[in-house]
Amino acid sequence: MSIMLWDSFLQNLAAKIDGNYIGLLSLDFPYPNNSNIYWMAVFRNYQCQGVGCKLVEAAYSLVITARTMTVETLSPNVSDENYLKTYKFYESCGFEPLFNLKPQDYKWNMVYMMKNLNQIHQNRPEKYS
Ligand SMILES: CC(C)(COP(=O)(O)OP(=O)(O)OC[C@H]1O[C@@H](n2cnc3c(N)ncnc32)[C@H](O)[C@@H]1OP(=O)(O)O)[C@@H](O)C(=O)NCCC(=O)NCCS
Repeated sequence: MSIMLWDSFLQNLAAKIDGNYIGLLSLDFPYPNNSNIYWMAVFRNYQCQGVGCKLVEAAYSLVITARTMTVETLSPNVSDENYLKTYKFYESCGFEPLFNLKPQDYKWNMVYMMKNLNQIHQNRPEKYS
């Protein structure tokens, strides 16, 4: 599997296998100290095979100054099995829940999660730290 990068107003990573795109992660930088997973998905047939994990790890390498990575997803108190899986996925990547919120016009309660990237910065070669 290969991971490709291209720029737009977001930084986008695509996972490709045998010539087919199977996953995407879009990262934005709303403030210099934070990176945010704007959108992410892996094709159903390729889920639970480590592709999402690899995309998140590749996203860390795009972060130069930010000390945190955040994501908005459906709150675990919403009983939707698919999104509970998503919450568990981010938890397994080391993201921790901060708070729940139901933005105006949203149907569901959302949870905002954060991962501290200090450890990742510390483990980098000196030129990146
Ligand atoms: C969420 C999503 C991106 C995860 O990608 P993935 O490739 O399936 O995830 P991985 O295979 O890398 O999983 C990594 C870890 O997450 C956890 N995890 C993944 N799927 C899980 C599930 N169904 N239940 C519990 N834990 C799960 C596991 O700890 C797993 O590690 P393990 O395989 O060693 O046990 C993918 O399931 C998806 O596209 N879902 C639908 C769209 C979506 O929810 N997008 C995010 C919106 S914010």
